[in-house]
Amino acid sequence: NGPKELIDKLHKNQELSLEEWTELIKNRTPELSEYLFELAREERHKYYGHDVYVRGLIEFTNYCRNDCLYCGIRKSNAAAHRYRLDEDTILRCCQEGYDLGFRTFVLQGGEDGYFTEERIIHIVRRIREHFPQCAITLSIGEWKKDSYQAFFDAGADRYLLRHETYNPEHYAKLHPPILSAAHRQQCLWDLKDIGYQVGTGFMVGAPYQTPEYLAEDMLFLKELNPHMVGIGPFIPHHDTPFADQPAGTLELTLFMLGLIRLMLPKVLLPATTALGTIHPKGRELGILAGANVVMPNLSPTEVRKDYLLYDNKICTGDESAQCRHCLERRMASVGYQVVTSRGDSLNI
Ligand code: 5AD
Ligand code: FES
Repeated sequence: NGPKELIDKLHKNQELSLEEWTELIKNRTPELSEYLFELAREERHKYYGHDVYVRGLIEFTNYCRNDCLYCGIRKSNAAAHRYRLDEDTILRCCQEGYDLGFRTFVLQGGEDGYFTEERIIHIVRRIREHFPQCAITLSIGEWKKDSYQAFFDAGADRYLLRHETYNPEHYAKLHPPILSAAHRQQCLWDLKDIGYQVGTGFMVGAPYQTPEYLAEDMLFLKELNPHMVGIGPFIPHHDTPFADQPAGTLELTLFMLGLIRLMLPKVLLPATTALGTIHPKGRELGILAGANVVMPNLSPTEVRKDYLLYDNKICTGDESAQCRHCLERRMASVGYQVVTSRGDSLNI
């Protein structure tokens, strides 16, 4: 079976074996990618047309107890300038986003001990009261199932937690020993069980990644069947142990986006900020490879330059309104329109 036959098989069955995924990823070519992207666009148009959903990202704290080796806000990075937003500021970000047409807010932060379960619940409740028809997404790392349940009961509907890499040995090379792939995955199953719309994902081109590991990621995604899959290139941050590692490529990231669209045709698939960072047209190319979501920043401009998971992050000097309009133009330039509905997943 050549790689083109594997793509046809994937298109037909929405799945491949570990060996087939590995072969396909290893043997990709530019011509094959074009073929893949055509099929991926066809699939996304079936379910989502030319609509692109927007989610407003509020990066509310860059304190983090964890020490992930790739991440610029890891605990050991003493050079990071730390901040946290207070509740009123978070609410103002939501209001600004609402006025710009956002109907989904993503609260993302490091694992910050200041934000206890009680404080998160309080914030979620207030957003829920003020914006009853909006989706509230949390992206605040690993918690006990009880806490996830309490956030859900307070009004959160979605949760983003990338699995980062499925393979336990690979996971251990990217994280400090107290974190494990198994616990990460357990969190995702707990979130699904509670009834969240769940987003997971991984970095493309993370240090030590191999086609075999990516194949395992694809099998895990198939098994979990999440509502959303966030992938973006790994990009080194100068104050981390991976400062000298090469970034993931545009080419492989786009290829993986196309594969994910064929495997999970109804999934929500963002063209991420990291993709927009490694190439000026990265997000547009992501949409053309099968993505259908963009997640512009709603954080106050004063703190944006401090939420740096990786170097050269785009949009750190822009206002929320600028990003909103910038994305509208960018999406229109490739024939797609930004829509302001909640954008619930069809992958249920
Ligand atoms: N490059 C790219 N993505 C990164 N993330 C963290 N650090 C980096 C980096 N250096 C991603 C992780 C995390 C998400 C919020 O950002 O996958 O889950
Ligand atoms: Fe922020 Fe373009 S999306 S400036």
